[in-house]
Amino acid sequence: MILVTGATGNVGGKVLSLLRAGGHKVRALTRDPERTAFAAGADLEVVAADLGRPETLAPALDGVQKVFLMSLGANKATHDAHLVAAARAAGVEHVVQLSTLGVEVAEDPRANPLGHWHRIAEEALRDSGVPWTILRPNGFMSMNLGWAASIKAEGVARGPLADVPEAVVDPRDIAEVAARALTEDGHEGRIHELTGPQALTGREQLAVLGGLLGRDLRFETVPLAAHREVMLRHFSEETVNGVIRTLEEAIEHGSELHGRLSPDVRRVLGREPRSFAEWARDHLELYRA
Ligand SMILES: NC(=O)c1ccc[n+]([C@@H]2O[C@H](COP(=O)([O-])OP(=O)(O)OC[C@H]3O[C@@H](n4cnc5c(N)ncnc54)[C@H](OP(=O)(O)O)[C@@H]3O)[C@@H](O)[C@H]2O)c1
Repeated sequence: MILVTGATGNVGGKVLSLLRAGGHKVRALTRDPERTAFAAGADLEVVAADLGRPETLAPALDGVQKVFLMSLGANKATHDAHLVAAARAAGVEHVVQLSTLGVEVAEDPRANPLGHWHRIAEEALRDSGVPWTILRPNGFMSMNLGWAASIKAEGVARGPLADVPEAVVDPRDIAEVAARALTEDGHEGRIHELTGPQALTGREQLAVLGGLLGRDLRFETVPLAAHREVMLRHFSEETVNGVIRTLEEAIEHGSELHGRLSPDVRRVLGREPRSFAEWARDHLELYRA
């Protein structure tokens, strides 16, 4: 049995589907099983649990051999530590953890809180004695879905980083690597750095979308203070402050790390990572006016 956290979310949802398609028995973890209609099947169990409430995790892990572990923002360190402790107690054989690129340079928590939270989460897993694989993805291509409403309405994308090149990665590739790591030999003790095949700035990504839509789209750079206000509508203040500090650092010093291309998607999947153009084509309807 494989426990999938974030099973109602972006990467976890895809991991769940891939594992089921591969004939594996899965248990989907969600705080609210009523909210999401999973496709029913004898291969699927759904469990109500909360990574912030450790007492809910032992029942979720009962009979589980492997875990896909993700959690969010400023909760990352504590939530992952809760799951890892419960996994060790339950005798789990392998945890595949979603982390982030940048952990390796996140020594100063004040400069890169986002990386720092992930670093503590990684350490909790690596120090636990539970066999592990860590996935360190670059920024997700799907982050651009945040542009969809203003592209449809005004032909404008707004964001804080117009000109910082980033080898953004398709969440489908992340999920495929996770599913392989959970079901194949040879991934234990390995860190996979997951990037797309090409470093593109925000403006260049917008140009790809504009080309496919046949529209002239404009990038409007948003000051970090205004971006912070938008983020506060969706995330906790601690998470938002951490993300803003990390963005300030990227704007001030550029981000060589995030522009780098990693061979790991190709190494694990035996094919090139999906390009931004492919991602954009597959999601184009969401941007069409
Ligand atoms: N976005 C990026 O560009 C980027 C880049 C690098 C790394 N990452 C990593 O990827 C993660 C985001 O992955 P994603 O896009 O797949 O996330 P997502 O779709 O936003 O994930 C939401 C999931 O989190 C679950 N969740 C939230 N709070 C929970 C709690 N207290 N207990 C249990 N589950 C909880 C939700 O489950 P329910 O609501 O069903 O309970 C839902 O399934 C980040 O946190 C980061 O670690 C992201």
